[in-house]
Amino acid sequence: MTFLSGRNLGKSYFTSKGLWHKEEIRAVYDVSLDLDLENARGAGSRSGNTGLVGESGSGKSTLARLISRLEKPTTGSLRFKDEAIGDLPEKMLLPFRRQVQVIFQDAAASLNPRHTVEKILSEPLRNFFPGMKRKERLERITEIMGQVGLSPDHFERFPHEFSGGQKRRLAIARAVIINPDLLICDEVTSGLDVSLQGQLLNLFLELGDRFGVHYLLVSHDLPAVRYLCRRVLVMYAGRIVEDFPAAEMAASIHPYTRALLESEPSLDGSFSPRFLPGEPPDPSAYPTGCPFHPRCSEKKAVCSEQAPIFKKVADNHGTACHLT
Ligand SMILES: Nc1ncnc2c1ncn2[C@@H]1O[C@H](COP(=O)(O)OP(=O)(O)O)[C@@H](O)[C@H]1O
Ligand SMILES: [Mg+2]
Repeated sequence: MTFLSGRNLGKSYFTSKGLWHKEEIRAVYDVSLDLDLENARGAGSRSGNTGLVGESGSGKSTLARLISRLEKPTTGSLRFKDEAIGDLPEKMLLPFRRQVQVIFQDAAASLNPRHTVEKILSEPLRNFFPGMKRKERLERITEIMGQVGLSPDHFERFPHEFSGGQKRRLAIARAVIINPDLLICDEVTSGLDVSLQGQLLNLFLELGDRFGVHYLLVSHDLPAVRYLCRRVLVMYAGRIVEDFPAAEMAASIHPYTRALLESEPSLDGSFSPRFLPGEPPDPSAYPTGCPFHPRCSEKKAVCSEQAPIFKKVADNHGTACHLT
């Protein structure tokens, strides 16, 4: 049974353009994916972790909001352990929310400034384990604070008394305190200095080992994805264009993936010489055929005429490109 699976997911936003005309922004377009956690269990701490990468505007956050059911898909279906959840009302989503948690880059800003740490960390326990006694809650709070590297003595403090890195740890604690199976992290290490980023990634690995939390790491930071994840999904123009093992970055096929890898900043902060020319397409006017063809140095005639179909090239590798 697949933990979480999407079929032909699409999300459009409509913006009004003039009085009569509405423009359709196709932020996510025909995405199918399976996140299989069961098969990954016991196979090493990174095994169930997936990275979702792509340039800004490629639809990563929208896809993250769809599969965490913060938004409903416009088209397609979403299944959680074989139950269709794409259209379920919020009150029916409790079992799903217990197992799938999300944190965003601005997670720190979502901490209520008037609530103490105890109150912030009690809330998910009250929601998901209403029968839990206060003593038990305090024990769990103390435990999780220690595990994310916050002093358990600080549970009377308010968020503003913590540094930026500590606030992110607090947001992580709030998400993992109910012991979810999947934590969707949207750019949570962005905007932090390199050493704090490294600390958070190591914290993720530790929590993964200890509690069996798996991650969907949404990031434009390829080294972070390579560090934490076994599998990489590459998004372009609202679609998944490649799905491949993180350990085999060099085996990637799609010209977009390869361009992304080549324009990745190296560890010393400098850029490798090859940049990707041009801009990602406007999601209200995708090019015909393959959406990447205007920027692709290897395009053929068919690329501007027909959209490529996603094909498997190996058990753990697939891509949507006419050149394969
Ligand atoms: N609520 C919204 N209303 C209108 N357009 C949106 C909305 N959310 C996202 N978009 C558009 O959808 C596209 C994909 O955005 P997003 O999912 O945030 O990409 P990413 O996370 O990869 O940067 C962008 O063009 C963005 O402007
Ligand atoms: Mg985003």
